[in-house]
Amino acid sequence: MTTSDVSHTTKDIPFSDSDFRAIAELAQSAFGLNLAESKKPLVYSRLSKRLKARAISTFPEYLDLLNRQDERDERLELISALTTNVTSFFREKHHFETLRNDALPQMQANIGSGKRGRIWSAGCSSGQEAYSIAMTVLETIPDAGRKNIKILATDIDPKIVERAKLGEYPNEELTGIPEQMRKKWTESKSETNFSMSDAPRNLITFAELNLMTEWPFKGPFDVIFCRNVAIYFNQETQQRLWDRFREMLTPGGYLFIGHSERVTGPAAQSLNGIGITSYQKFESGGRLAS
Ligand SMILES: C[S@@+](CC[C@H](N)C(=O)[O-])C[C@H]1O[C@@H](n2cnc3c(N)ncnc32)[C@H](O)[C@@H]1O
Repeated sequence: MTTSDVSHTTKDIPFSDSDFRAIAELAQSAFGLNLAESKKPLVYSRLSKRLKARAISTFPEYLDLLNRQDERDERLELISALTTNVTSFFREKHHFETLRNDALPQMQANIGSGKRGRIWSAGCSSGQEAYSIAMTVLETIPDAGRKNIKILATDIDPKIVERAKLGEYPNEELTGIPEQMRKKWTESKSETNFSMSDAPRNLITFAELNLMTEWPFKGPFDVIFCRNVAIYFNQETQQRLWDRFREMLTPGGYLFIGHSERVTGPAAQSLNGIGITSYQKFESGGRLAS
C-alpha cells in the first residue's frame, strides 16, 4: 500500500488517538497483545479492511461490535489482523538439534521408567513447527507411535489450526525439510502441494487455545516450544507466560523461545539458559541434572 492509499482510506474511515487506544486496550486485555503507539498506521491499515468487510464506517462502531458476546469470530479476525502467522519447517534449527541430542534422550529414559513423553508447540501457526518436532521425534525414537509420546500443538486462531490439521503445504516448502525426512514423512498431494504422512500426524493433537486464558490441562511437559509468539506481549504478560511455562515443565524439561525473546522475571530463577534462546528447568533443589 502506498502513502497516498493510506491517506485516501483515512479520509473514508477516521481513526483518532482515542480509537487507537481503545483497540490497544482490548487487544491487551483479551489477547495480551502489546500495541505501541508506533503501530498506529499498521493497526489502521489492517483493521480498516475489517471495517469494510463488515460494512462499518467508524471505529467506535467496530469496538461496540467487538465487545458483543456473539462476535467471537470477529475478535479472532482482530487477532489474525494484528499478528502474523509466519513460520517454516525447522525454523531456528538449533532448537531441533538440542531436542534431538539432549531433550529426547532424556524423555526416552523417563519413558523407560514408566513416565509419559509430552511436547507442546504453543502458538503453532500452520503446523510446520509441530511437524518438524514430530519428524525429529520419529528420527530419534522410530517406534514413538507405539510409546506414550504425544505432541500438543495449539494456536489462538481457529483458521490456522484447521490449516495445521490439514498438513498440506506448497512444494516450495519441501526444501526446509532435510532430505532423509522428506523421503520418509511427506507425500506428494498434487502437482503443487505435498502433505505430511500418517506417522508424524498421528503423534500430534492440534487444538485452539488462547495462551492468555486458563489452560485446560495439567502437563507436565518434557519440552515446550513457544517461539515468536510472546514478542507480541508486553513485558509483564511475557513474564507471567514464562512463569506458567516453568510450572508446566517437568524438572529437567526444556523451553525453546523465539530469536528475539528472552526469559525474564521470576521464571528466570529456575530456567537455566543452556544455549541460544534455549532453557532448561532446574531439578528440585535448584540444580540441573548432571
Ligand atoms: C509468528 S507465528 C509463530 C509460529 C511458530 N511458533 C514459529 O515460530 O514459527 C505466531 C503465532 O502466535 C499465535 N498467537 C498470537 N497470540 C496468541 C495467543 N494469545 N495465544 C495463542 N496463540 C497466539 C498467532 O496466531 C500466530 O499463529
